[in-house]
Amino acid sequence: MFFDSHAHLDEACFQPDFDDILRRMAEAGVTRMMNIGFDEASSRRSLALAGRYDWIWAAVGSHPDDAAAVDDACIARYRALAADPRVRAIGEIGLDYHYEDVPRGIQQTAFRMQLALADELGLPAVVHEREAHEDGLNILAEFPRVRGVFHCFSGSLEMARELVRRGWYVGLTGVVTFKNARKAVEVASSIPLERLLIETDCPYMAPVPYRGRRNDPSLVPLVAEKIAELRGLSVETVAQATTQNACRLFGIDA
Ligand code: NI
Repeated sequence: MFFDSHAHLDEACFQPDFDDILRRMAEAGVTRMMNIGFDEASSRRSLALAGRYDWIWAAVGSHPDDAAAVDDACIARYRALAADPRVRAIGEIGLDYHYEDVPRGIQQTAFRMQLALADELGLPAVVHEREAHEDGLNILAEFPRVRGVFHCFSGSLEMARELVRRGWYVGLTGVVTFKNARKAVEVASSIPLERLLIETDCPYMAPVPYRGRRNDPSLVPLVAEKIAELRGLSVETVAQATTQNACRLFGIDA
């Protein structure tokens, strides 16, 4: 049984064959999923999806690309959405310095406001962080009670160890199957199994041999298979551990 801890199955690209994807997920043993918002509209869609299936849960929040839209009124609406018990995290929130479309100061303000909401509500955070490792860790340190996951982790092994030390989790995608994925492979091989989550980040990040195509949650076992191979474990062991980890983090009965 696999838990896809980060999916965007509400995206329009899944509508044409939605039922077929659910069937393939069931066949592949993908029995739980977190659907992640990246702005207000997708957060509402995530909650609507979680309301329709008792094995899907939702995260609400604004991605750094949408940071300019995060103000007090937006936070109030996220607070109202998060009152629904199907919402189990605030996310995805964070920092992305790869493209400078949104000024760093605006990204940092939105990140802090949403971490404060997670702190207030006692919910974990789902963090997107790219090329902003130092600022990311420094801002997290301002919210010592907040725990969560760095999803689609792209940092070094040292940074992964620092997150683990702070009680955080590291999410790995299909990137771990890519030929040039030196850092992700190092992290997948080395950090404690109790701190790893598996995810698709679909429709992005499809694992080999589907790299470059539309990803979907039925492919998350390929991520677990690669981690199992790297660690010399059975796929079942990795599946069970990562499912337990996600259930622990998101407050879901295992
Ligand atoms: Ni995502």
